[in-house]
Amino acid sequence: SFKAVIFDLDGVIADTAVVHHAAWKKLADEIGLPFDDAVGERLKGVDRRASLEILLENATRSYSEAEKDALATRKNDYYRQQIEHFGPENLLPGAREAVAATRRAGLKTALASASRNAPLLLERLGIAELFDYVVDAGNIRHAKPDPEIFLAAAAGLGLAPADCLGVEDAAAGVASIHAAGMAAVGIGQAQALAEADRLLPNIAAFDIGQFTT
Ligand code: G6P
Ligand code: MG
Repeated sequence: SFKAVIFDLDGVIADTAVVHHAAWKKLADEIGLPFDDAVGERLKGVDRRASLEILLENATRSYSEAEKDALATRKNDYYRQQIEHFGPENLLPGAREAVAATRRAGLKTALASASRNAPLLLERLGIAELFDYVVDAGNIRHAKPDPEIFLAAAAGLGLAPADCLGVEDAAAGVASIHAAGMAAVGIGQAQALAEADRLLPNIAAFDIGQFTT
């Protein structure tokens, strides 16, 4: 049975998937790039720069590195304007309890978020102390679906990947978990998370007892 659960943050614990989505859409609208839910779904879980590259797949001209830096910064400014006002009320329902129950069951907990804003968000949400290890996204070189971030989480906990269960709301995240050699719980809709080993509609449905028998 598992010794640890490694949680994603945006869209699993924090109600921020919609905030990232809105910030990217605002940027796309401003620079005249198409943005629909299919593009939005592909951006989930993917780091800032890789997300921008996905957005720019539909561009009709090329962008310099300096322009890309400016666009990524602009998106992040839009995102930060929203989360600056965040507090514990922006936790997804049941999220705190899912992590707390995991700890009470004697398992370790880690956070594997690609977001550079994760430390700020954890403080704002008031849950920083619930994690034994938080991956520093700044040290991760390969975005999800690469396994690097989940492997870093397992290493940070001092555990083998096979002892860890990953929880994700993004297809790229589920792929990252599997590539790391871990089992994956998908949070959300079946069409986006067909590869997950177990699918739950939301984090409130996460019952650690189902994974520790
Ligand atoms: C998470 C979110 C993505 C976001 C990425 C980078 O993985 O799911 O939507 O692009 O973090 O976030 P950042 O806050 O560093 O731009
Ligand atoms: Mg996510």
